[in-house]
Amino acid sequence: MLDKIVEIRKDLEQSLETIKTAKDLEEFRGKFLVKKGIIQKLFEELKTVPSELKPQIGKEVNILSKFAENEYNRLKEILSTSSAETSYIDTTLPGRTSYKGSFHPVRQIMEEMVEIFKSIGFDVAEGPQIEDEFHNFDALNFQPDHPARDMQDTFFIKTPGDTNNILLRTHTSPVQIRVMKSQKPPIRCIMPGRTYRNEAISSRSLAEFHQIEGLYINKDVSFAELKATMISFSKKMYGEDSEFRFRPSYFPFTEPSAEVDISCYLCKGVGCRICKNSGWLEIAGCGMVHPNVLLAGGIDPNEYMGYAFGFGIERVAMLQTGIDDIRCFYENDIRVLQQF
Ligand code: DAH
Repeated sequence: MLDKIVEIRKDLEQSLETIKTAKDLEEFRGKFLVKKGIIQKLFEELKTVPSELKPQIGKEVNILSKFAENEYNRLKEILSTSSAETSYIDTTLPGRTSYKGSFHPVRQIMEEMVEIFKSIGFDVAEGPQIEDEFHNFDALNFQPDHPARDMQDTFFIKTPGDTNNILLRTHTSPVQIRVMKSQKPPIRCIMPGRTYRNEAISSRSLAEFHQIEGLYINKDVSFAELKATMISFSKKMYGEDSEFRFRPSYFPFTEPSAEVDISCYLCKGVGCRICKNSGWLEIAGCGMVHPNVLLAGGIDPNEYMGYAFGFGIERVAMLQTGIDDIRCFYENDIRVLQQF
């Protein structure tokens, strides 16, 4: 029996050397340590050993049993810590972020402007970007020889046999005519949209840009109401402390006409690069609707009058964002767009 114990110990030690994985260790346990395993069998055989030999052989079986158990526990410990190491997750690594999109800054400003006008009672209307010369010029009281009609300023679209002179609208003012023709006064409406001009591209102008047109038609409308509307809109947009001035100007479709300047947001009127040292920034054109325009829109100028205005949205967006080159809006540089 002692020989057998020595044999088993050899076998056990050899088995220990081959243990590399948790599966090997489990096989080891199945062979030596379970109820029907080799060591348990030795304990059973011990019953048949003559009683004078029992203490010595019993001691050897015990030593072997303890050794097998200790080795099993030791290897179990090692394998469990090493498998934790291989599946270790480094939680300090920066994660992979997904980028969230947002509306284009010009779009955001346009919606902000629309919301302000809606809150002071204006409806919203839209018109076509491809217009005809009548709506874009004639109906707005542009004389036949007005320089804006020149190909240098306007993108005309050649369509065979067409006598209506199709063009890309140069401003949102033609939508005024469409609104007057389709609605009965009183009319209180804004008309946002994209416009086109055959301009040389520079830091201040593009061939494609956006405007918001405004129109109010009623029985008694005064220039003071126009001023109040422009000022209350602009204070909401630029803050209560901004200042305004109205400069006399000329547009064929309004009489009298004015341009609205706001105190420069950057230097607060002192003079800087953005406002070209004047302290003022031009934000809109406006005026009282010319009787000829009312007539072209099918409205009797003896009964009704009104005011109109037009904002350049990119100009407003430049003021709001501090971007001083208009081209930045349309170069699709993600580093610029991501900021808004
Ligand atoms: N249509 C003008 C432009 O593109 C802007 C404008 C000025 C619109 C005065 C108006 C207005 O309605 O009354 O420069």
